[in-house]
Amino acid sequence: MAETLTSTYGPWGIVAGGSDGIGAAFAHAMASRGMNVVLVARRVPVLEASAADIRARYGVEVRTVPLDLSTPGALSALERAASDLEVGLFVYNAGGDDRSTAFLDKDLDTHLQLVHRNCAAVLEAAYRFGAPMVARKRGAMVLVTSGAAWAGGATRAAYGATKAFDLILAESLWAEWRTCGVDVLGLVLGRTDTPSLRRALDGGAGPLGQLADPNDVAEEALDHLADGPTWIYGSDAPTGGSPFGGLNRRDAVLAMSRGTSAHTATEVPSTER
Ligand SMILES: NC(=O)c1ccc[n+]([C@@H]2O[C@H](COP(=O)([O-])OP(=O)(O)OC[C@H]3O[C@@H](n4cnc5c(N)ncnc54)[C@H](OP(=O)(O)O)[C@@H]3O)[C@@H](O)[C@H]2O)c1
Repeated sequence: MAETLTSTYGPWGIVAGGSDGIGAAFAHAMASRGMNVVLVARRVPVLEASAADIRARYGVEVRTVPLDLSTPGALSALERAASDLEVGLFVYNAGGDDRSTAFLDKDLDTHLQLVHRNCAAVLEAAYRFGAPMVARKRGAMVLVTSGAAWAGGATRAAYGATKAFDLILAESLWAEWRTCGVDVLGLVLGRTDTPSLRRALDGGAGPLGQLADPNDVAEEALDHLADGPTWIYGSDAPTGGSPFGGLNRRDAVLAMSRGTSAHTATEVPSTER
């Protein structure tokens, strides 16, 4: 298995948002399969600790690039930082919403930063790192999205909209690059046990409910890189469509809104966050 990931895609992988949670799980899973990794995140001590752990456990090379993906110029800086590497797998993971709240209760700059990190920067990553993959005729991209992409809902206007962008971007690139030797996977997640989710739910938002294990998520995604365009972790039909498929849009939005205001996983599909 260790040879398969690198011989199929190449020697290096990048995880944008790779220092904790699902991104760190991806980095561990990639390194355990022999891939060298570039990790991107903002908090340098967390980033360096995660990198040191991966080096010690798997003996691969790890490069750290401290960046804020919500700022313009971050992806060109990342491209420069990795310009000497053959990057065969790019996982765009960073994308969580640190606070689910009514649209007008967040300041506009916070919304715009989320949109930049979750949309513009993802598109830029696909453009800058996808082009060499297409030229080499090998590579893979994982864009991590969410059940929030399936329908709108109260308290998730910007977040859900960005995750729908990521889903459509991944599916469209899959359609374009499938004949070029480049696998693209839109990875749809439900509630997963990460520091980011725990921070977001902190403050009496109710029980956590059933949470996916980030390590299981990462391993399963790596096993299914070639099974795009979409992989719905935890679904009985992971390559299937929206769990809201049978509902009209109004009912889907109301169901999603009930789930978000209650902060429970019981009223909404398991893929929703
Ligand atoms: N956890 C869930 O329940 C859940 C459910 C559905 C979908 N998802 C999706 O899964 C992905 C990962 O979620 P997560 O819960 O692990 O939390 P996350 O906050 O999206 O990701 C955490 C990682 O991203 C880094 N990061 C966050 N913002 C960044 C920025 N502006 N620039 C650079 N790095 C940044 C964090 O390090 P720093 O903070 O140090 O920068 C950390 O390494 C997201 O795309 C989210 O939408 C998660």
